[in-house]
Amino acid sequence: MIEQDFIPRSIDTSKLTKGSFTWKTPSNIALVKYWGKREPQIPENTSISFTLDACHTITTLSFSKNVILSAPDSYRDEKSHPVFDIYFEGKKKDDFKPKIATFFKRIEKYCPYLKDFDFKIESENSFPHSSGIASSASGMSALALCVMSLEKELNSEISDEYFYKKASFLARLGSGSACRSVKGEVVVWGEHQEIKDSSNLYGVEFTDEVHSNFKNYQDTILLVDKGEKQVSSTLGHDLMIGHPFAENRFQQAEENISKMKSILKSGDLKAFVNLVESEALTLHAMMMTSNPYFILMKPNTLKIIHKIWEYREIINSNVCFTLDAGANVHLLFPTSEKETIAKFVDIELKQFCQNNQYIEDGVGRGAVLMKNEK
Ligand code: PMV
Repeated sequence: MIEQDFIPRSIDTSKLTKGSFTWKTPSNIALVKYWGKREPQIPENTSISFTLDACHTITTLSFSKNVILSAPDSYRDEKSHPVFDIYFEGKKKDDFKPKIATFFKRIEKYCPYLKDFDFKIESENSFPHSSGIASSASGMSALALCVMSLEKELNSEISDEYFYKKASFLARLGSGSACRSVKGEVVVWGEHQEIKDSSNLYGVEFTDEVHSNFKNYQDTILLVDKGEKQVSSTLGHDLMIGHPFAENRFQQAEENISKMKSILKSGDLKAFVNLVESEALTLHAMMMTSNPYFILMKPNTLKIIHKIWEYREIINSNVCFTLDAGANVHLLFPTSEKETIAKFVDIELKQFCQNNQYIEDGVGRGAVLMKNEK
């Protein structure tokens, strides 16, 4: 599908006055990382992620027809994007408004019906807000799906396929990685010749064979630093513009997608460990070698990494780590190691986490519609 396919012809909003939708959407963890983008939120390389289960956002979008419809056209034109209030975990959050306003502005062309309604957005995360876990992936995908539920209400003819593709397309415009938090256990974003139907515009479910070794894969998130992100994603992606290693990195990521595709098929856990850790360290290496430069790991991040390597040496384990653009460590391992890794975390690793805190998660299926009220 191309961008134009997401611009609806004309949508009649006259019959809908009010209602609400509630979606529960997951976070995701990239195995091959997205780092570097072009306008409008087009990735410089393909990425692939596991959808998470326990780390999710629940968002309710309530809407009511705005009064401006009865006002003269000249007045209506001035109000080009919707009026909304946002509540996070029960509290009104005006400081979240600019990000959401930018999102509404970006999707206006694709969702012209939005301007006919006023909105109340109520959101909550399953994980603590100040956990250093990026909530933008689950948060933006939840909002995008609520918007699509509204579109479906106005135009019941849209297919399920279109619904999810457009939800991912819209989520991408909120936060790149959010487009991988809509549908499927393994999701690919970015055009890649070996991934059927892959696109730069939205995430697609990875439909190739996945070996049973990867079923119910586990992810324990070790909260090393629960503070705000040291470097915002926007700034981080921008560091790839004119980066001396950018072209090689983008090329390498495309090759790593091919490798990951065959690893997922063969079930080769040793190769998985090697590729996932290499990807995580490459992401951080990009930030260390950009200008300005950043070290996003903390001393405890490194201590955890060395403990993992030591553990793998001694015990024939397939546990590995991956990192986002921060200090927290995602511990990935097959479900067969669940009990032993729980002990390892308890005895050896949790001491390196802030307040000994960690989150046990695993691969999940994607977003769920929880409520639809009119
Ligand atoms: O979605 P953004 O713009 O916040 O970028 C996130 C990028 C990483 O999380 C670091 C990697 C990825 O592919 O998720």
